[in-house]
Amino acid sequence: AAATKIAPSMLSSDFANLASEAERMLQSGADWLHMDIMVMDSIESECARFFWLLLVPICKMKEIYSLLPVLSFLLRHFVPNLTIGAPVIEGLKKHTKAYLDCHLMVTNPIDYVEPLGKAGASGFTFHVEASKVTNIALFLGSQAECESPVELVLVMTVEPGFGGQKFLPEMMEKVRALRKKFPSLDIEASSSPIIHLEFPLKLLLIESFTAVDGGLGPSTIDAAASRGANCIVAGSSVFGASEPAQVISLMRKSVKE
Ligand code: DX5
Ligand code: ZN
Repeated sequence: AAATKIAPSMLSSDFANLASEAERMLQSGADWLHMDIMVMDSIESECARFFWLLLVPICKMKEIYSLLPVLSFLLRHFVPNLTIGAPVIEGLKKHTKAYLDCHLMVTNPIDYVEPLGKAGASGFTFHVEASKVTNIALFLGSQAECESPVELVLVMTVEPGFGGQKFLPEMMEKVRALRKKFPSLDIEASSSPIIHLEFPLKLLLIESFTAVDGGLGPSTIDAAASRGANCIVAGSSVFGASEPAQVISLMRKSVKE
C-alpha cells in the first residue's frame, strides 16, 4: 500500500518566514509541503494587469486589495485570492529538500508546469474545472495506456481559495467512490515531477493516493480516512496547534487504522 502522506498547507504558515516554517513542519513529521498556487492568469488578466497598473498609483494598498474579489469575479480568476508563484517556490527550494506538492488553483495550469518545475516543484495537482484542463486530461489519458503518471486524485473538501474553512462532509462520497473504483494502492515510481489531477476525473487508470484538502484536522480526519483518503492536506489545524507534531501524528494514525 502507498505510504500515508501528511501535507501541511503552507497557506496557513507565516509567509514572511517560509523557510523556517517549512523546516518546522518537517521537524514535526510532515511528509510533503502543500503549496497553494493562486495567481492572476485568466486570459482577461491582461486587462487586469492594465487596471492594476492604473490603480496602484491612485489607491492605497489596502483599498486595492479590497477590490480583488470583484476583479476576480469579473475576470474569471480561478480563485478570489493570490498567493505564490514560481519565484517563491524557487526561493524556498534553496532552503529545503522537502517534496513541494503544488496545488494549482489557476485558470491555465499547463502554463505553470515548466516555470514551477524549474523552480523546484515536486508534484502538481490541477483542477479539472480549469479551462484547458480537458487537454491535460486527454494528454494524460493517452499516456495512461503506457503507464499513467497520474498518481494522486485530490478531493477538495472546502471551496478552493482560502485556509480555515469548514470541512464539507458531503465530499466524502467522492472519496469513497474513488477508492472503490481504484482499490489498488500500489504504483510504480513515475516520472518526476509527478502530475496529479483533481476529482471529478474521467480519464484515470492508475492512482495511488486519494488526497483530501480543506478543513482537515483531528475532528474531521476519521471521516476522510475511513473512506480511503491517504494523503491529507491540512493548514489551519496544523499551524494553529501549539504542538503541530501531535496533530500530524494523530492524523497519520487515523489514516493507518
Ligand atoms: C484551499 C487550499 C487548502 C487550504 C487548506 O484553497 O487548497 O490547501 O490551505 O487549509 P485548511 O486546512 O485550513 O482548510
Ligand atoms: Zn490546497
